[in-house]
Amino acid sequence: MTEAKIHPPSAEFVKHAHIDAAKYDEMYARSVDDPEGFWGEAAERLDWFRKPTKVKNTTFDYHNVSIKWFEDGELNVSVNCVDRHLATRGDQVAIIWEADDPNVTRHITYKELAVNVNKFANIYHELGVKRGDRVVLYMPMIPEAAYAMLACTRIGAVHSIVFAGFSPEALASRVNDSKAALIVTADEAPRGGRNTPLKANVDKAREITGPVKTLVVERTGGDVHMEEGVDIGYTAMFEKASDTCEPEVMNAEDPLFILYTSGSTGTPKGVLHTTGGYLLFAAITHEYTFDYHDGDIYWCTADVGWVTGHSYIVYGPLANGATTLMFEGVPTYPDVGRFWQVIEKHKVNQFYTAPTAIRALMRHGPEPVERYDMSSLKVLGSVGEPINPEAWEWYNEVVGKGKCPIVDTWWQTETGGHMMTPLPGAHATKPGAAMKPFFGVQPVVLDATTGKEIDETECEGVLCIKDSWPGQMRTVFGNHERFINTYFQDYKGYYFSGDGCRRDADGDYWITGRVDDVINVSGHRMGTAEVESALVAHAKVAEAAVVGFPHALKGQGIYCYVTLMEGVPYTDELRDELVGWVRKEIGPIAKPDFIQWAPGLPKTRSGKIMRRILRKIAENDFGALGDTSTLADPGVVDDLIDNRMNK
Ligand code: WT7
Repeated sequence: MTEAKIHPPSAEFVKHAHIDAAKYDEMYARSVDDPEGFWGEAAERLDWFRKPTKVKNTTFDYHNVSIKWFEDGELNVSVNCVDRHLATRGDQVAIIWEADDPNVTRHITYKELAVNVNKFANIYHELGVKRGDRVVLYMPMIPEAAYAMLACTRIGAVHSIVFAGFSPEALASRVNDSKAALIVTADEAPRGGRNTPLKANVDKAREITGPVKTLVVERTGGDVHMEEGVDIGYTAMFEKASDTCEPEVMNAEDPLFILYTSGSTGTPKGVLHTTGGYLLFAAITHEYTFDYHDGDIYWCTADVGWVTGHSYIVYGPLANGATTLMFEGVPTYPDVGRFWQVIEKHKVNQFYTAPTAIRALMRHGPEPVERYDMSSLKVLGSVGEPINPEAWEWYNEVVGKGKCPIVDTWWQTETGGHMMTPLPGAHATKPGAAMKPFFGVQPVVLDATTGKEIDETECEGVLCIKDSWPGQMRTVFGNHERFINTYFQDYKGYYFSGDGCRRDADGDYWITGRVDDVINVSGHRMGTAEVESALVAHAKVAEAAVVGFPHALKGQGIYCYVTLMEGVPYTDELRDELVGWVRKEIGPIAKPDFIQWAPGLPKTRSGKIMRRILRKIAENDFGALGDTSTLADPGVVDDLIDNRMNK
């Protein structure tokens, strides 16, 4: 591999940065040598009702995995994200809301945020939501989504956000699994000039879940069905709600939120994060990774339906008293210059987006960017999937004009916040490298077969983490055994990330992608098992195997091999029908890119599908199929290859 081009930050940038190279080295060393001291001090950035006297109590021992941080501390998240800023920055803008319609913007100050959150919390009280209850949010990207989250934290309720692009079926399974006491939604969600019928989707989900009480925010005023005694309009409640609500005193280890995410097997898992450690980790990573300074305007383009939106639109920035921009729309509406227009309009200083968006926009060349003034930008961020060097260079040159450090942040729903990333004033970046561990994070590269740590600096293997960090998930909601088996079973004594990685001669880390049956489609995580179970739920499908394949825009695409029931004809119409079926069952992000008919699937004699072979065929890489001698019927492979080539 040729040595990557290295991009050091400018001397000017380093001069004003929170963390330079020497400071990183010193702080990193302390964070792993003395985690109690490091995190105990770091915790002072939060306001506690009762300061923790215990910092870390964690074990990755397979038999009794247990993770507790600040376990005798007491605090409230909404107090940290709102109330404590009122005295010093009450009139500062907390949230800039940029609607789907480019002519609509709202500025919400911290004072206004306080009123909205308190009122929302009182609406919850009014609707009977109690401490510990789960509230499912199925929302557009509107400030009310942030109010709804923060209001849960104020009363000690646990939110579980379901991305508004998910289907009624996916919503129903999350409402059921979390045993939600309430759903918060909107009439419709405008995106890219079209309205998604959120409330109608909730109606369909409730055909499965039964009548779960639903609060409906009137976003568009569109006509929706309101069921007497079950559906409640937000505006009327808001008008009569009191604007003061006492915050609940929460233990640091009380649940904060659940977020469902895909794994290599089974249905999505409810990743559970708790209060103190998560908030601290979101806040400290937000400040250092983006080199956020007071007064900066910060924009993360994610959706609150993903963990990125939780940590880096709402909790991290607001805990830091930042101004966070919330965008309802899409990068291509009304035209492909929208991101750049918003950056100019609001003088954005830190911009955080996904490689898939960069790739889609770079196809249109530099002109749509050059139409706008990008001079406010200081730091650019990337998240969700490996960024290819071409996209990295374009981001650097065309968007950042070569003067903005790029932070390629590797982390996961499970990790709560950034695990590996360059810090913009400390590290020279390399296009495509996640570079260095964040404070307190101890990455190790293991040999996949022996499970042993590789000591050589330059190596490749599976990425594990050696010890706990405050933002780590605590359990799978309602299933601690699944938590242990998923993350601590394969490599005993470590947290297993599911990713592969390479460490270069300088000791810098490069993420190589998932090593399990999880695929990454446009930065969205998808379990191949979920798509398979959607396919076999169709009456005409006997069996299905799903793999990822390289896709120029999406990173990975979804490739499905399908065996039909005996006697059912293999037709193009049925292929289209199945594509639509999966889209409806899970949501548009799971729409298969290709369905290949597979009258037979390659299986071992014990009946296990050999996905390795299916991946190669999907990649058009027929030369490297490896050993097929253990297959029950090796002829199946030739048939699949013929099929693939004749398509
Ligand atoms: C998976 C986690 C983290 C928030 C968004 C996705 C992949 C994430 C990077 C990156 C290479 C990355 C990994 C990881 N991933 N960031 N900078 N470089 N790969 O969260 O849905 O929990 O997905 O996304 O494969 O395991 P998620």
